Amino acid sequence: MIEKKCDSDFENLKKNVKDLLGFNTFQYKDTYLGRRFDTRLRALHIDTYHAYWDLLKKDEAEQKKLLNDLTINVTEFFRDNSVYALFKNEVLPNVIKQTDGEIRIWSAGSSDGKEAYSIAMLAVEALGENRARSKVEIIATDIDRACLQKATNGVYETRPGLTQTDIEKQMRFIEHPAKYFDIEGNTYTAKPCLKQLVSFQYHDLISGLKKKNFDIIFCRNVVIYFNRELQEVLCMDYYNALNPGGYFVMGKTETLIGEARDCFKSYTSRERIFIKE
Ligand SMILES: C[S@@+](CC[C@H](N)C(=O)[O-])C[C@H]1O[C@@H](n2cnc3c(N)ncnc32)[C@H](O)[C@@H]1O
Repeated sequence: MIEKKCDSDFENLKKNVKDLLGFNTFQYKDTYLGRRFDTRLRALHIDTYHAYWDLLKKDEAEQKKLLNDLTINVTEFFRDNSVYALFKNEVLPNVIKQTDGEIRIWSAGSSDGKEAYSIAMLAVEALGENRARSKVEIIATDIDRACLQKATNGVYETRPGLTQTDIEKQMRFIEHPAKYFDIEGNTYTAKPCLKQLVSFQYHDLISGLKKKNFDIIFCRNVVIYFNRELQEVLCMDYYNALNPGGYFVMGKTETLIGEARDCFKSYTSRERIFIKE
């Protein structure tokens, strides 16, 4: 937060943004919100939160831009090598054994779908010839409707050479990406065989209905933006949403806090994978 701006203006902006856009500002860290607001103020050459609110309330295009900035969507296929290596080699085979191939997975805060599609591809590969006898259901949720639409379309542009967007490089866990994507020039389009495994849904982790009966939950690089109290609540929500023996996969810089620390058993502390015994 830029210091010259006043605290009460900041609090007013938080409240007004919540009322206007339905974005639960009070559950996010102030440092995070401050950085997001300041990005918009700088882009518009505005000095105060008060002046920004005067503009925001009348300007629909700016409302969209702010919402877009508030939901950081950075993601990639198979984000974090060691996490997906463990997921592929240990977690999935364990879960397939436990469930006899009837697996329910939740990608919470799924952004534009790359996480959910990564999970889906690995599940298909892990099931191998048992795929026909199995049932894989992946629910992928987010509050960013543009991201959900992109995920549902399943069309991704690659830019070879740039790590963030080089899909070919990101596909390191998949021997034949063309099994799952139609690849034309720089465009990867998810095939129906991949899309049918994932259902994308609008769901707010803060105010949405509690979900249940999952064998695996990925909630990676999402709770890090929330305040501590909410992180504690969500960690327990994930615990309650898992079946016994289920796995919870967090982001590599995230950690369990509160009651959930005593409930979950750590599967690997480095990769932030936890198990509900
Ligand atoms: C940085 S992305 C993480 C994407 C993916 N999980 C990964 O690790 O690559 C964070 C996502 O969380 C979503 N998000 C933020 N607040 C949310 C909320 N209250 N409920 C659901 N999703 C939320 C954002 O819209 C964004 O798509």
